[in-house]
Amino acid sequence: LDNGLARTPPMGWMAWERFRCNVNCTEDPENCLSEKLIKKMADRMVSLGLLDVGYEYVSIDDCWPTKERDSNGRLVPDPTRFPSGMKALGDYLHSKGLKFGIYEDFGTKTCGGFPGSEFYMSTDANTFAEWGVDMLKFDGCYSNINDMEIGYPTMEFFLNKTGRPILFSCSWPAYTQGIKTDYKLIRENCNMWRNYADIQDSWDSTYGIINHYGINKDGFSAFAGPGGWNDPDELIVGNFGLSYEQERAHMGMWAMMASPLFMSVDLRSIRNQSLALLKNKRLIAINQDPLGTQGRRVWKESDVELWVKPLQTEGSLAIALLNSGNQGTPKRLSLPALSLMLTNPLGYNLTEAFDGASMGSVFPNDTLKFSLNPTGILMMTAVPKVSSANLLMSLIFGQ
Ligand code: GLA
Ligand code: GLA
Repeated sequence: LDNGLARTPPMGWMAWERFRCNVNCTEDPENCLSEKLIKKMADRMVSLGLLDVGYEYVSIDDCWPTKERDSNGRLVPDPTRFPSGMKALGDYLHSKGLKFGIYEDFGTKTCGGFPGSEFYMSTDANTFAEWGVDMLKFDGCYSNINDMEIGYPTMEFFLNKTGRPILFSCSWPAYTQGIKTDYKLIRENCNMWRNYADIQDSWDSTYGIINHYGINKDGFSAFAGPGGWNDPDELIVGNFGLSYEQERAHMGMWAMMASPLFMSVDLRSIRNQSLALLKNKRLIAINQDPLGTQGRRVWKESDVELWVKPLQTEGSLAIALLNSGNQGTPKRLSLPALSLMLTNPLGYNLTEAFDGASMGSVFPNDTLKFSLNPTGILMMTAVPKVSSANLLMSLIFGQ
């Protein structure tokens, strides 16, 4: 969507995967979806340095309003959980330098059974703009999927009409997958779009999504770029279900896939190791590379697969070797550099992507040896020793 937003994959925090539809503030006041929780997460995003590295949206998901609209047909935030109202919450987020994300649904109800936007799109767009909303996640439960090609662009029309820049996150292709998915139309109308099942707090779920992106049905990878991104769903780094090795693989792959980076984790109690992964500047730089090309799976042999993402600096690549299997001991690999797509005859400087350590020079005919942990990742960047431009100059000027 060409609205000036999401020129690189959007980054932030999203309530859903970790906090779900917990509306019980009586029995669980610290963890229910409320302005108190959202403000606390916002404070932590700032104090933990997450805003400094790029995480800026704070996105409230489903279950925030009352079950009924008011007499003017407007959505009403639940008064016990959001007593100050959404405008005040938006102001609070903005005062911290953060951005305000909210959730609605194209159908008659949200997935959690709260009022949907069908028949109220214009009203809801105006309400969100008045509240200072900067991002709308627009889900697709309780709707007719045949109407999506008209419904989603209609909501974007009303958002645009408010005059407020509002990042538009569409769940549209997640509902139309396997049927008819016009990614060109989706890209024209959305800044990001979910296209697969919800992430759950497990390696199986995480790898299932990675594999879906690897299969790349309908060639959806090609539609990612500045202004519009495929969204494999939230980051679950720091929660309960992944080992540290799996968290590395998860974070590394979301960087490779130029994915929106929305953490869904309790920032009051996140482990230091997980926090460091989320803040890893080298991984974030790969994710945010201005070229905006989504990495692709180049090959897969049994449990080992190669992913490559071209980077903006001429001829540079981010390369990931992922071991999806769990055989208990690291796999020893001996691979020709050519099989890693390192084709430049003048060679590359290789750098380990997580810690920035130099891995030396490599030429296409070299053989590289690796040890790849179970459900682990090896990731590196390769920068040509001599770019083609420099090569041309050296041929002309002989240096
Ligand atoms: C759907 C979405 C999730 C979340 C829930 C809320 O399942 O895909 O990301 O928003 O609805 O009910
Ligand atoms: C981490 C450590 C704590 C404490 C804090 C200080 O959370 O696990 O023990 O040192 O940092 O910020």
